[in-house]
Amino acid sequence: MKESENRGSENTGRIFITGDKHGSFIPFFGLHERGEMKDTDILIIAGDAGYVWDDDYIYKVETLSQLFPGTVAFIDGNHENHDILDAMDVVTWHGGKAHIVGERVMHLMRGEIYSICDCNIFTFGGARSNDKDRRTEGESWWRQEEPDREEMEYGRRQLMENIDDIDYVITHESPLFARDHISRSKEVDDDYLFPEALEEWYELVSKGERFQRWYFGHMHEDRVITPKLRGVHNDILRIGEDTQVRWA
Ligand SMILES: [Fe+2]
Repeated sequence: MKESENRGSENTGRIFITGDKHGSFIPFFGLHERGEMKDTDILIIAGDAGYVWDDDYIYKVETLSQLFPGTVAFIDGNHENHDILDAMDVVTWHGGKAHIVGERVMHLMRGEIYSICDCNIFTFGGARSNDKDRRTEGESWWRQEEPDREEMEYGRRQLMENIDDIDYVITHESPLFARDHISRSKEVDDDYLFPEALEEWYELVSKGERFQRWYFGHMHEDRVITPKLRGVHNDILRIGEDTQVRWA
């Protein structure tokens, strides 16, 4: 997969990043009203997009396409219907594997690298739900929410093999140390090793020649953790920049 500094990016638009939406259209109504987004723009949601939740998801996805003129691309969080996502067609999108969720709506998969607008973006969704004991499997909770060993190994390998090409990392879960900066952070279960693994990945990718920033959702806070690590929630940011796009 290692070909050149960027892998033939074709898109000439802009990339934006935001956090958990849990199926809400409010930011999209706001963006639509302001009319500043273009058909070449890509908005990446850092997990818990929440539009793929039940069999009616297609109507929600249609609404997204109607409101947003560009492409909405989300990584998976813990609150997505993973059974529906897993059954979708896998295509190659900007050099990485992705699911086609609907017209101009994509699901970016774990451990993939996408070359968009001269940027190489590594994505890795998934997290453990704090309240999974109160949820029903197959209705409001899916065991695929948490990355398995194979996915983790694939992600780490992709990072290591492409370490000097990656500009941005987008995950749903945060590296472990970020939790110290999150006001509503919950305890991490002893057997939940994913945040610790992400901390190791953060140390690795920080040494990459092109690395600029890592964004995560999940904590529901817009927060700068380090100059290169940022939690996103309501803010819609142009990737790599600190200025917000106004939607409210
Ligand atoms: Fe969430």
